[in-house]
Amino acid sequence: MDDLYTKVLSAYERSSPVLAVVGLAIVLYHGLRWLGSAFTMFRAFVAPRFVGPVVNFKQMGEWAAITGATDGIGKCYAEQLAEKGMNIILLSRNPDKLKRVATEIEERFRVKTKIVPFNFTNPLQKYEALKTTLAGYDIGVLVNNVGISHPSLPLLYVKDQVIEDMIACNIRGAIQMTKFVLPGMVEKGRGVIINNASMLGTMPLPYLSTYSGTKACLDFFTRGLQNEFGQKGIIIQSLLPFWVITNMVPKDWKPTFFTPLADDYVRAALGTVGVLDRTTGYFPHTIQRWLFSKLSDYQHYMIMKKALEEARDKNVKDLENPNTQAPAFSNSVTKS
Ligand SMILES: NC(=O)c1ccc[n+]([C@@H]2O[C@H](COP(=O)([O-])OP(=O)(O)OC[C@H]3O[C@@H](n4cnc5c(N)ncnc54)[C@H](OP(=O)(O)O)[C@@H]3O)[C@@H](O)[C@H]2O)c1
Repeated sequence: MDDLYTKVLSAYERSSPVLAVVGLAIVLYHGLRWLGSAFTMFRAFVAPRFVGPVVNFKQMGEWAAITGATDGIGKCYAEQLAEKGMNIILLSRNPDKLKRVATEIEERFRVKTKIVPFNFTNPLQKYEALKTTLAGYDIGVLVNNVGISHPSLPLLYVKDQVIEDMIACNIRGAIQMTKFVLPGMVEKGRGVIINNASMLGTMPLPYLSTYSGTKACLDFFTRGLQNEFGQKGIIIQSLLPFWVITNMVPKDWKPTFFTPLADDYVRAALGTVGVLDRTTGYFPHTIQRWLFSKLSDYQHYMIMKKALEEARDKNVKDLENPNTQAPAFSNSVTKS
């Protein structure tokens, strides 16, 4: 035994300088990586508050096109890109809302606007007309923002049409719009495409499984494109917000550190363009994403179980109650 101990000790003494070098290399490697990440976070979330985004959006082209541009996150992108001097193409369904928002933007920011009433749940054939409408515009920035969901419900309660509309709007809309603008961007060798997916596309959410599935698809689509077009001077960002105060969240939610107003969210998200290709767009959401990334899908579900199941039970009850006017179930998505 003594003999074995002596042998191990002497082997250790012979190799200890090597172990020290390996240890130092590991510490240096992780230290440098940590410093690199901290610097990137600084460039994405801190520096833009003082010196603005690294990307000069106006230099990308004359027009910015934003889908789902009349409310929430999309409206804030439209306003903040107009503030930077870009002309704005607004796309969503309701012509009156479009006119109202366009007039507001023209008056506030002294830029041109174009409104395009279009329902992104439309079948593919109807996209031809949209392509023709957008042809001839020098679109330097595209924000594929439009997206729809349904209230938390078990899959078997969700109508087929709602599911079809969600797949069409959340996936087809972004892919087609991207195909319309890419040729112009490739020709110029510059452009920005922001695809608004969701953090729920990176962690499955029971009772909203189709929604989180469509958002995962958009995230993957975007990451593939980054490798196809990133070398051609085009910035393609996958945006993964967590909760933001808009019509999509319950009406009684108030802004908090983790749940910003759409305007604050978009200001932060624009600062990340050109620095982060795949981001929550908002530093507190990045903290949340990091924390959730340490959990398994099951642990994540257990944490949210109570809230998710309460919402599910309430929605199922509403759905089964013949006296409840539940427009969300016939779904905002099926309006045209
Ligand atoms: N809010 C959040 O917490 C959150 C979190 C993560 C990701 N997101 C994503 O962010 C995006 C914007 O969400 P938001 O919360 O800002 O939504 P929102 O406030 O409900 O605004 C939705 C916008 O899209 C338009 N729209 C809805 N359905 C449409 C359709 N079928 N065709 C064309 N336009 C349509 C609406 O205008 P009309 O009704 O007039 O058409 C409106 O301008 C979505 O993709 C969503 O998935 C949101």
